[in-house]
Amino acid sequence: MFMCFEIMKALVLSGGKGTRLRPLTFTTAKQLIPIANKPILGYVLDRISEAGIKEVGVVIAPETGADVKRYVGDGSDWGLRVSYIVQEPLGLAHAVKVSRGFLGNDDFLMHLGDNLLKKNLGELIDKFESEKPDALILLKEVEDPTKFGVVVLDNKGNVVKLVEKPKQPPSKLGLVGVYLFSNKIHSAIDEIKPSWRGELEITDAIQKLVDKGCFVKAEILDSWWLDTGKKDDVLAANALVLDEYIQRDVKGEAIGSTIEGRVSVGSGTKIIGSVVRGPCVIGKKCIIENSFIGPYTSVGDECLIKNSSINYSIIMERTIIEGVETLEECLIGRNCRIRSEDRSKTFKLCVGDYSEVKI
Ligand code: DAU
Repeated sequence: MFMCFEIMKALVLSGGKGTRLRPLTFTTAKQLIPIANKPILGYVLDRISEAGIKEVGVVIAPETGADVKRYVGDGSDWGLRVSYIVQEPLGLAHAVKVSRGFLGNDDFLMHLGDNLLKKNLGELIDKFESEKPDALILLKEVEDPTKFGVVVLDNKGNVVKLVEKPKQPPSKLGLVGVYLFSNKIHSAIDEIKPSWRGELEITDAIQKLVDKGCFVKAEILDSWWLDTGKKDDVLAANALVLDEYIQRDVKGEAIGSTIEGRVSVGSGTKIIGSVVRGPCVIGKKCIIENSFIGPYTSVGDECLIKNSSINYSIIMERTIIEGVETLEECLIGRNCRIRSEDRSKTFKLCVGDYSEVKI
C-alpha cells in the first residue's frame, strides 16, 4: 500500500487570477490568504503530506508565483519534493496540460490550492488504487450550484453529465476541487475547446472521459469542504477552522484582561485591559489594548489593536487598528492602518495590503 502512495504524484493548482478576492489578490496569491493565521495552501500541503504523497507539482501564475515559492520553498517543511510549473491562467485543464512534463504517464491527485477539505485523502487514494477508475471525483450538495461545476448522476450513482457553472443547474451536486486521474485525462484534455469564459475546463475534460465510455467514479463527500473563492467563503473557512482546531494556548502576557475559551495567543503578545473571547487566534508580538476581540477572529503577527472591537474577521500581519467601535465580517490585508473618529458605527470592510483607512 505504502508503495502505491509513493508513486502517486500530486498537482496543486496555485495559479489563477483571484479576481473575486480583489483588492487582496493585487498584492498576494489567493492561496496565501491566512485562515486561522496559516495560508490556505499550507492546509492543502498538510493533507497531501498526510496521505503519504512525496512528489508535488505546484502550478503558479507569473504574477503571484514568487510569493507562493517563498512560502512553500522546496516543500521540505511538509516532507515533500516540490517542483514549480508556471502557467498563464487559462483554465484548470490547461494547468494539467502544461504540467505534462512533470506528470508523465502517472496517475495523479489534483488539488485546487484554494479548497479546504477535512477528508483523509489517503482513503481516497486507496479507493482509486483498488477500483482503478480513469477519474475519481468528489461531490457535495451545495446551496448555489451556479458557482461550481455541477454533476448529474443516474439512479445507480453513475456520472451522466458534468457542466461548469450552469445558469440553470441540473442538480445540486457540486464538484469539489480534489480529483484523481489516470493518464487518460491527457487525451481527453487534447480534445476539448475553451469554454464561454475562455478557459480549458477540467469539467469538460471529465465529460469527455464519460462520453468515451471511460470509468468515471463519483463519491459523495461526507465531511466539510470549503471553496475560498470570495470574502464570505474565506471568513466562513476561518470560522470553521477556528472552531474545529483551535485549543487554548496563551503564550503572551495578559495584563488586566479576560481571555475566555479556546484562544491561542502567540509569544511576545501583550493583551492589556481587553477581553478576548474564543474561538480565536492572535499571532506573535501583537499589542491588544483596551479592545474586544470576539469569536471567529484571527489576528496576524505584529498587529496593534487599540480602543476597538472586532468580531468574525481576519486581520493580517502588521496591521494597525485604532478607535473603531465595531469591525465585523472584515477581511483586512497586511500592513494596513485603520482609524476611526466616529466610534458609533459597525463597519464591514475588505481592505487590501498597505491601505490606509480613516473613518
Ligand atoms: O472549488 C471547486 C470549483 O473549482 C469546482 O466546482 C469547479 O468545477 C472548478 O472549475 C473550480 O471553479 P473555480 O471557478 O472556483 O476555480 P478557480 O478559477 O477559483 O480556480 C481554482 C484554483 O485553481 C485556484 O487555486 C486557482 C487555480 N488556477 C485556476 C485557473 C483558472 C490555476 O492554477 N490555473 C488556472 O488557469
